Amino acid sequence: MLYIGVDLGTSAVKLLLMDGEGKIQKIVSKEYPIFFPNPGWSEQKPEDWFVQTMEGIKELVQGADKSQVAGISFGGQMHGLVILDENDEVIRPALLWNDGRTFEECDYLNNVIGKEKLSEYTANISFTGFTAPKILWVKNKEPENFAKIRKIMLPKDYIAYKLTGVHCTDFSDASGMLLLDVKNRRWSAQMCDICGIREEMLPKLFESYECVGRLKKEIAQALGLSENVKVAAGAGDNAAAAVGTGTVGEGMCNISLGTSGTIFISSKKFGVDTYNALHAFAHADGYYHLMGCMLSAASCNKWWMEDIIGTGEYGKEQQEITGLGENHVYFLPYLMGERSPHNNPNARGTFIGMTMDTKRSDMTQAVLEGVAFALRDSLEVAKSLGIHLERTKICGGGAKSPLWKKMIANILNLKVDVIESEEGPALGGAMLAAVACGEYKNVEEAAAKIVRIVDTVDPDPALVEKYEARYQQFKEIYPACKPLFDIIKN
Ligand code: XUL
Repeated sequence: MLYIGVDLGTSAVKLLLMDGEGKIQKIVSKEYPIFFPNPGWSEQKPEDWFVQTMEGIKELVQGADKSQVAGISFGGQMHGLVILDENDEVIRPALLWNDGRTFEECDYLNNVIGKEKLSEYTANISFTGFTAPKILWVKNKEPENFAKIRKIMLPKDYIAYKLTGVHCTDFSDASGMLLLDVKNRRWSAQMCDICGIREEMLPKLFESYECVGRLKKEIAQALGLSENVKVAAGAGDNAAAAVGTGTVGEGMCNISLGTSGTIFISSKKFGVDTYNALHAFAHADGYYHLMGCMLSAASCNKWWMEDIIGTGEYGKEQQEITGLGENHVYFLPYLMGERSPHNNPNARGTFIGMTMDTKRSDMTQAVLEGVAFALRDSLEVAKSLGIHLERTKICGGGAKSPLWKKMIANILNLKVDVIESEEGPALGGAMLAAVACGEYKNVEEAAAKIVRIVDTVDPDPALVEKYEARYQQFKEIYPACKPLFDIIKN
């Protein structure tokens, strides 16, 4: 049988066709625009996601035996607020995961309701990108839109709804709404009250590998697929990526270098970081995970390469970089503010340490290193909780760069296991569909049978030592700049 994985990302939707043995048959990508209507705001049109997903599926199955397609599932950009009215029309563009406009609502949630209460109700505190503060923002700033809300959902759930007519979500993605009681895997009545919404506006909850429904007749016809194709709930993109890299079960780690950068630690037990600097979310394997999320990772490199120095030749620019661990230039990668661990929407991208002999390649190096140092900040929080890691998997566009993988291995002092395919969320989505269709007993079995490690980048003790000294300097820069970020925010 064949399974479709849909990675509903921030710059594009990536679709992957996988056979029953886990072999990737084809990958298709379709872009859509992102809008930044004000500094720190970030929006997309759900209708664009759906149009491009439909086009992508058509292209993906072209030439394949369509009667063999048994299931579809997703990894979706998390936290985005999609709201529908009584006619099932989208009320306004979705507010995305990297949108920083809700700082007043976050302040209300964290400081008036209080972090202790939020943590008790949901296992997390409020970050500007989370969904609950966005609902409050619509309530406060666009009351006419708030009054129209009948259904609330996350980005990938909009696609599932259009495909099946079922208003559903999964526990991993729902965890990032700040509306889910993560530990008990149910909606929090207290959070619904705080946001002024009714529970019936929220989607029905499923495990990521559960079938939510089948393709609607008109959708099946438009795609040339059978109405029997099962749609599984899917997962937030990080949980789906973890499935796609085999980061399931106890104590495994995955780093994703996409538009965002995440460090994801799987666990069979529910656990919360005392200061909530890391997110405590449900995992797509039926268990839990802790996660640190930086808002700009591979996107910092893209910004630097394409928008600033004006080149698309990533490999060539990286070839000029020598002297790892010896760079005097540092870069704070906070181009969209920062989530983990600083939780500061006012933080900004910053270069520091240049001299007259600084070269373009030093700046490029600083950007790549800055992202790795910022991931290390989240790793330090995990270590402070007693979590000991020796190795990590890696995925996302940034994982294509051998140099970046080497920096990550040495800056985080972790062995970096490279997977055959770096298509984490799309592959994870297809694997969840395969589990929902009974091809595999559970997610752990699918991961054990499908995911293959093809290489490992080992940290080099001499380089680890050099980078340790650099990291100690890097971590002084944010606290020193923080008061300045508050001054320059307007
Ligand atoms: C995770 C997060 C991002 C998005 C990117 O909390 O906000 O990784 O899911 O799509």
